[in-house]
Amino acid sequence: MKALLRKLVVKISLDSKPFFMGGLTLDLNLIFLGPPGSGKGSQALLLKRDYGILHISTGDMLREAVAKGTPLGKKAKDYMDRGLLVPDDIMIEMIEEKLLQSSLSVGFVLDGFPRTLPQAEAIDNLFKKMNVKLTAVFLFNASKDVILDRLVNRRVCRNCGALYHLKYSPPKVNGKCDFCGGELYQRDDDKEETILRRIKVYEEQTASLIDYYRAKGVLVELDANRSVDEVYMDIKRWLETGSHVG
Ligand code: AP5
Repeated sequence: MKALLRKLVVKISLDSKPFFMGGLTLDLNLIFLGPPGSGKGSQALLLKRDYGILHISTGDMLREAVAKGTPLGKKAKDYMDRGLLVPDDIMIEMIEEKLLQSSLSVGFVLDGFPRTLPQAEAIDNLFKKMNVKLTAVFLFNASKDVILDRLVNRRVCRNCGALYHLKYSPPKVNGKCDFCGGELYQRDDDKEETILRRIKVYEEQTASLIDYYRAKGVLVELDANRSVDEVYMDIKRWLETGSHVG
C-alpha cells in the first residue's frame, strides 16, 4: 500500500520534488556503501519488502553468473574467491546493462556498487543519461569484530537468497530456509582469511567514496553495529522525516 501511494505521489508531483512529502520520500534511489558484513543486504531486503523498490546487488549478480558458469562468472570467480574487486570495466558494463533494462521508476537500492572512484563516476554519468536523481547514500559504519562475527556465521538460502545468522537470526530447522525450504550454504568468501582481505580492500579502494558522496551532500551515516531492527528503524525514520539517530 505504501509503495503504491508513493508511486502515486511521485506521479502527481512530476518534477517539483519536495523531498519529504506527507511523511513519504518521493524518490527512493539509494546507494548502500559500507564494509562487507555491515548489513547492507539485510537492510536492502527489508526496504524491498516494505517499499516495493528494486534491490540491485552486484555481489548477487556475480554469484549468479558464477553458479551458471557464464563467461562473466568465469572471469569474476577468481577475484571473488580471493576477496578482491572484480575489474572496473567488467563491473561498469554489468551494472549499465542491468540498469538500462530495469524499470527504475519504482525506486532502487544499489547494494555493493560503486566500490571505486571510476565506478562512482560511471554511475553518475549513467544517472544523468537516464534522468535518475540519487536520493541518498547510506554509509554503514561497523567495527571489524562485528563484521567478522557476522560473516563467519552467515548462511544464505541457495534458492531464494534469504539471509541467516547462526546466532542472531538462525533458521528454524538447521540448514533449511524458513521461507522456501531451500538449502542454506556458506559463501566461499566468508572464511576468516578472505573476510580480512575484503575489509582491507574496502579500506584501500572503497572508503574514499565516503568523501566523494559527502562532498555531494548525499551521505547519511548509520551506526551499523546495532541490531537489524534498530538500523532499519533509523533508515525508515530518515526516509520518512529526513532525520535519523546514528
Ligand atoms: P558482495 O556480495 O557485495 O559482498 P560485501 O560487500 O562484501 O557485502 P556482504 O554481502 O558480505 O555483506 P552485507 O553488508 O550485505 O551484510 P549482510 O546483510 O549479508 O560482494 C562480494 C564480492 O563480489 C566482492 O568481494 C567482489 O569480489 C565482488 N564485487 C561485488 N560488487 C563489486 C563491485 N562493485 N566492484 C568490484 N567487485 C565487486 O549481513 C551479514 C550477516 O550478518 C548475515 O548473516 C546477516 O544475517 C547478519 N546481520 C546483518 N545485519 C545485522 C545486524 N544489524 N545485527 C546482527 N546481524 C546482522
